[in-house]
Amino acid sequence: MAHASLKVFDNLPAKERWFCRARLELAPLERVAEQASGNDLLDVGCGHGVLAALLLHGHPERRVVGIDPDVRKIEWANASVGKNANAEFHAVTIEELASRRPASFDCVIIADVLCLIAREVWPPFLDAARKLLRPGGRLLLKDAENDGSWRATKALWQERLMVHVLRRTVSTGGIGFATREELVGFLERAGLVVDDITSYARGYTAPHVLLTAHARE
Ligand SMILES: C[S@@+](CC[C@H](N)C(=O)[O-])C[C@H]1O[C@@H](n2cnc3c(N)ncnc32)[C@H](O)[C@@H]1O
Repeated sequence: MAHASLKVFDNLPAKERWFCRARLELAPLERVAEQASGNDLLDVGCGHGVLAALLLHGHPERRVVGIDPDVRKIEWANASVGKNANAEFHAVTIEELASRRPASFDCVIIADVLCLIAREVWPPFLDAARKLLRPGGRLLLKDAENDGSWRATKALWQERLMVHVLRRTVSTGGIGFATREELVGFLERAGLVVDDITSYARGYTAPHVLLTAHARE
């Protein structure tokens, strides 16, 4: 049975509804949402807002901001979960948001976005994510890891299909998965301390991994 949080997408066209449902089945977004803490949450690369809907489900005290460069997706998000007064979605970059609203979020979540961004842009991107955290805030980085498995190969081809053939996903500079060690290195160089790394590959066809971090004092 579909997760109750998906109900907010019922008014979208069938293709978009199907896409939202597929996101929830293909990625452990419920596990990611369980790790979120605090009331002010930022969903970076929010897409249609599937994770934002999960974060708000059963949490009327929370406020969620979602950002994404894909204007089409921000429109779908605003037409669905964005009707919740506690949700707002904007087509702005993370750097723009960090300069406008620094230290504003208890939790910054980046789910399946880094793999779509050119590596040279990761440092300013992650630096902006750290700047957006309030003191004591938590960063959740969910991506697929390059663990050399069949899952990594399959996930890479799936992303290429979504970006280049179906044109459902916007890539800002490249498609590729980093190893777990590379992900930790990038987070540390952005002034973050990694508290936990959990694999969610089992039961999925992609090598999902979730890193939890906080800003270095
Ligand atoms: C695979 S989707 C994941 C969507 C959502 N986070 C989720 O888990 O359902 C990747 C998203 O990253 C967005 N994206 C691509 N480049 C980005 C960037 N530089 N900054 C923020 N989001 C970006 C895409 O537009 C797309 O919506």
